[in-house]
Amino acid sequence: MKNKLPVKTTKAVTKKPAALSGTKPLWAGRLAEKPQAEAFAFQSSINVDKHLVFDDINGSRAHVAMLGKQRIIPKDSAAKISRELEIIADEIKSGKLTIDTQAEDIHSFLEAVLTKRLGDTGKMVHAGRSRNDQVAVDSRLYLKRKIPKLRKELAALINTLLDIAQLHITSLMPGYTHLQRAQPVTLGFHITAWCAALERDYSRFNDALQRLDECPLGSGALAGSTLPLDRKAVSMALKFNRPTLNSMDAIADRDFVLELSSACAITMVHLSRFCEDVILWASEEFKFVELSESLSTGSSIMPQKKNPDFAELIRGKSGRAVGNLVTLFTMLKGLPYSYNKDLQEDKESLFDSIKTLSICLRMFSGMMKSANFNLKRMKAACIGGFLEATDTAEYLVRKGLPFRSAHEAAALIVRDCIKAGQKHITNRPLGELMKRSVLFEEDIYEALTPAACVKARELPGGPAPKEVQRQIKALRMKLQTSNVK
Ligand code: ARG
Repeated sequence: MKNKLPVKTTKAVTKKPAALSGTKPLWAGRLAEKPQAEAFAFQSSINVDKHLVFDDINGSRAHVAMLGKQRIIPKDSAAKISRELEIIADEIKSGKLTIDTQAEDIHSFLEAVLTKRLGDTGKMVHAGRSRNDQVAVDSRLYLKRKIPKLRKELAALINTLLDIAQLHITSLMPGYTHLQRAQPVTLGFHITAWCAALERDYSRFNDALQRLDECPLGSGALAGSTLPLDRKAVSMALKFNRPTLNSMDAIADRDFVLELSSACAITMVHLSRFCEDVILWASEEFKFVELSESLSTGSSIMPQKKNPDFAELIRGKSGRAVGNLVTLFTMLKGLPYSYNKDLQEDKESLFDSIKTLSICLRMFSGMMKSANFNLKRMKAACIGGFLEATDTAEYLVRKGLPFRSAHEAAALIVRDCIKAGQKHITNRPLGELMKRSVLFEEDIYEALTPAACVKARELPGGPAPKEVQRQIKALRMKLQTSNVK
């Protein structure tokens, strides 16, 4: 049968792909052939690492100042390079100089600009360093800037939520397990539970920050340098705690990226779970909360709809954060020591996780600030699911009955209620209750109101208003004393 598919001519197959025009790569001396344009673009990272431009400039200025002090390059050349880097930073900020996205990466771009402007002096900047320790220092500097910002946004959200919790330490609502009504709690207690989780995230970011606070510059490509670099001075100039311990580790390590992405993913999963609560609460079935119209959307077809899209989007975006973490783990797990180009793939995921978390923290905060809670509806939901059954059993325990027997008596009373169409254990007369245990007395009726059930749980960690007040104070204290750099 005749093949109808178009057949490529030999000429088309052997046609050479377009070669790269413009700036020469830093490594052009080694390779006689010009790189193929599409392939060069494939391996270039400038569209991602351009976000490191100011970190790269700061790193280079610290490096070059040290080169001058150590007489590795003439002092006045070091000063010239440093000044030019400052000018370049200003020009990029003002828009006078645009980053050339045809360059291989941000490090190459900046060296090319320096060389173009300063000639041989510009060519001195790279003495004693490699793009391997350069990209490692840039990423760490970037995180040293971003983590405190994220922590500020997290602290703002926690404080907003604690304000809401404070307003509602006596607002009754059902607490759930298995999404079934379990025991009465308060809205204040529920929201404080969220805050306890977020406070751990807040400190997790700080832990990560402490660990990554070491300066890789001076590690070179993997094995340091023969030049008399002063690693301590560079580390101090860049406000790191200390230089990294081992040069091979310093350029192979991306634990700090994993830790950060993990902290982002954990926080996003927390937000996602809170959003799931909010989405349920906003449903007609629960009707516990009315979300502000400015943070809801309508439907293109159903005129009555008011959808909790923002909560849904935050829940949805948590998938990205988890995905980014998985991307990083998968990228890293098979890499031999030390640098491999695979590592270049780390930044897109890391940047995305940070950006996603940051906007979600702000959106969630706005959504909660403007939410209107239907306290009547929440309180009413404490009746009807026998949320007081555990309290009934514990009442009997207090009167001396073994817990298992008390549990059985309370369970039988619940069955009695269901049979009789009664919604609350206190709907049963004392005589009926006493058929299940003679230990019941008149005081059971007081003990089983939702408010009494909550008030009686004043153990540390419990939902009693007094105790939640203490928890709120403790969380506020933690936020104040936790080390924000
Ligand atoms: N763009 C590279 C990265 O992000 C910089 C380091 C390049 N090093 C190298 N040996 N090619 O990883």
